[in-house]
Parts: sequence; structure tokens; C-alpha cells
Amino acid sequence: MTGPARRFWGDEDPAVEAVLHWVTDRVARASDPKTTARPASELAAAAGPTVTPSGIGWQAALRIFDDVLVPATRAQDDPMNLAYIPAAPTRSAVAFDLATSAANVFAGLWEAGAGAIYAENEALDWLIGLLRWPETAGGTFVAGGTMGNLSALVTARETMRARRGGRPYGGWVLACTADAHSSILGAARALDVGVIEVPQDRRGHLTGRALHAVLRAHPNVFAVVASAGTTNAGIIDDLDDVADVCGEFGTWLHVDGAYGGAALAAPSVRYRFHGVERADSFIVDPHKWLFAPYDCCALLYRDPRAARVAHSQQASYLDQIDREAWNPSDLATHLTRRARGLPFWFSLAVHGTERYRAAVERTLAIARDVADGIASSPHLRLVQPPELSVLLFERPGWDPAQHQQWSRRAALEGSILCLPTTWQGRTVLRLAFVNPDTRPERVLEVLDTLR
Ligand SMILES: Cc1ncc(COP(=O)(O)O)c(C=O)c1O
Repeated sequence: MTGPARRFWGDEDPAVEAVLHWVTDRVARASDPKTTARPASELAAAAGPTVTPSGIGWQAALRIFDDVLVPATRAQDDPMNLAYIPAAPTRSAVAFDLATSAANVFAGLWEAGAGAIYAENEALDWLIGLLRWPETAGGTFVAGGTMGNLSALVTARETMRARRGGRPYGGWVLACTADAHSSILGAARALDVGVIEVPQDRRGHLTGRALHAVLRAHPNVFAVVASAGTTNAGIIDDLDDVADVCGEFGTWLHVDGAYGGAALAAPSVRYRFHGVERADSFIVDPHKWLFAPYDCCALLYRDPRAARVAHSQQASYLDQIDREAWNPSDLATHLTRRARGLPFWFSLAVHGTERYRAAVERTLAIARDVADGIASSPHLRLVQPPELSVLLFERPGWDPAQHQQWSRRAALEGSILCLPTTWQGRTVLRLAFVNPDTRPERVLEVLDTLR
């Protein structure tokens, strides 16, 4: 036995070796775009019982994982997976996720996770620099954009409650557009606050003018949520004007950059983010377009002291915590946390921020090439030029069912994952690019089958 003497569990070395071998092989292999979900009944029949009183052993468990379970999951990092927001983690980041797991750091408190938290903060500092926020800004990594948005809005509500001396008559309200991510409505439900929808302009932006009218009419708005890359269309709200209005009314500005925040790294579109310098909180998911594996959302506050007030947990068994130290558990709705920012940090450290800039620019260029190709295809219609890397387009003359059928067939063939969505009441097709290895000419070849 070469590993540590964990006698109770017996010799786990063969299991460890087999799993590491599987990982090495998986990281080297291309993904299979035909892998897909199956009904639970089929999976049960194929896998058989797995959790049993005496265990099925590592060989059987690993075989079931490889033969049955993984093929029933979608290849998120396939270059032709352009549905929802796919993923494109670097292989260094994926490998380092394993190192992160093996180190098994408790990264909620500095006293337990200092080394890991230090490295996570290095990665966060890069983002803070891109935001052009002061060096005193800071944050932590949480599981995903949903938790990042919720935690930021908890901080916003607590800050405004303190500022305005309690809950206003009629309760708190947050303001956003109809295209804000669904997690914002989820956060409002969790916080038991109302939502006021601000009308968008013709292209789908939250504008300063519309926001001004809403804030004048609704004094109970505690936070404005602006999108820096809407999920449906990749649109960046008018952050500069929105920040002006939030400043005038003293309202918290949260910017949801879960998908689009990555483009802060791209000089060609940085101008679209003007105003983000004045946001109070911001999120970006490195598992979306910053080449990290699941699950990883960077949650940042201009003034982390506000987050500490809102999130610090107090109890006698926590009295020994050094509250002066940088404790990520004080900054979001969590206490125990894995150092989920480490794979992102490792990938950034390995490749450098210049390469990250180039990777995001490359993805933007792919989206523009495909947009140009669509615009010059007589059988297709581009809905509007992309602001980031999401494209909406349609096949004029086809009804929603025909768009749906084409999408399903292409998914089954494994040629492209391109799903329909609705835009201004119409069914259109949607492509989301986050992978610098997607080949625009291949995408256009497949879109030719829409003729
Ligand atoms: C703009 C935006 N915000 C929030 C989220 C939620 O992020 P997550 O799925 O990581 O919880 C998403 C997910 O696509 C998103 O696009």
C-alpha cells in the first residue's frame, strides 16, 4: 500500500489509479457531440443497482460511469455546441480541478484556506483591474451566476435597509428589464421583494432615460440590475447612463455579467462596458466564457465591507474566527466552500492574461464571421448585428415548428447544437459562441442545410 494508511477503507490505490487514468484519457480525448440525455428508466436498466449494502466495487462503478453515465450527458465543450451558454474550459483548468479536489481545501476562512484564497484573489484582482475598480474592491467565487446574483442582491438589500432605516412601506422592489436573467426573478422571490420591469429600447437595452422614469415613480427600488450580456441576445445595457441614474437616486447598481463579463478582457468591445466602473457589485462566470470548468462564478463588490455586514454568520462556535482576515464565507450566502476559483486561477497563471484576451477576441471574431456569413446568405436573416458573441437569426418562410425540427435533427446527427428561442415575439434560432476552437466555416456549412 503506497498511499496513506487509511486502514478502515482498505486498499483504495487501484481505484485511485484507475480514476486518474480515466481522467488522463478523458482530458486528451475530443468530446462526442452525440452524447445525450436518456430517460431515468433506461439508465436504471443499463446501470443496474449501484448503491448497495456491500458496494459494487470500483471496477463496476467506473465501468458504469464510463459506459452508461457519461454518454448520457451533453458534451458542453464541443466546438459545435452553441446552445444556451456552452463551456470551453482549458485542459489545464480541467486538470487543475482535480488538483483542487485532491487538496480538499476548506476555503471559507483564511485560517483554513489562506494559500488557496490568496491565489483565488489573484484571479479576482485581474477582474477588478478589468472593471477599473479601486484596489480595495474584492469578492469571492460562488457556484454560479444564480448564487452570485442572489448574494449581491442580499448585500444590496441590507445596505439599503441600513441606509434608509428599515423596510419601506409597501416593501422593497428591484428594477430590471424583461431580458434580465431568470435568476434575478428567483432572487427576488427568495428575498421576498417585488420586481419592476423597466421598458427596453428597440434593440433590447436598459436605458438611463427609461430607468429615470421608473425610479422617479418608485421610491422603494433598492437595486437596479443591469445586464452586461443578456443570455438571450448578448446585449449590454447602457451601463454609463444607468450608472448616472443610480448615482442620482442613490440606488445600488448590480451588473450581471455572468456570460458577457468575460468580454471586459477584449479591447474591441471594452467601450460597451463604460459605466461598469461605477457599479456596486458585479458577477462573471468563468465557467461560461473564461475557460474554466464548472462550477465557478466570480462575485465582486466595489466595497466588500457592505457584503461582510450582510453575510457574516455569527455563532458561539464561530467566535474564534479572525474577522480581520479575508474570509470568503463573509461575502456570500455560504460558509463551507471549495476553492472553486483555483482551476480558473491556474489556467490564467499558465496561459497569461494576454492569451485570455486573445481567446475572447477570437471568439468575438468567430461570432462576427458567422454573423457576416448569415447576413450574406439569401436564405437566412440576421436579426441584428451581435454586440458580443450571441447571434439571433431566422430562416424566413419557416414557421416555428420547422425551425424546431431542423434544430432537433441537427442535434441528433451531432452536427450542431443550435436551439430556437423567441425574440420580440418571434421564433428565431440562437447561437452562443464561447469556444475559440469553433470554426466559423463549419458553422456556416451546417447553416446551409437550412435552405
Ligand atoms: C446573464 C446570466 N446571468 C445569470 C446566469 C445564471 O448563471 P448560472 O447558470 O451559473 O447559475 C446566466 C446563465 O446562463 C446568465 O446568462
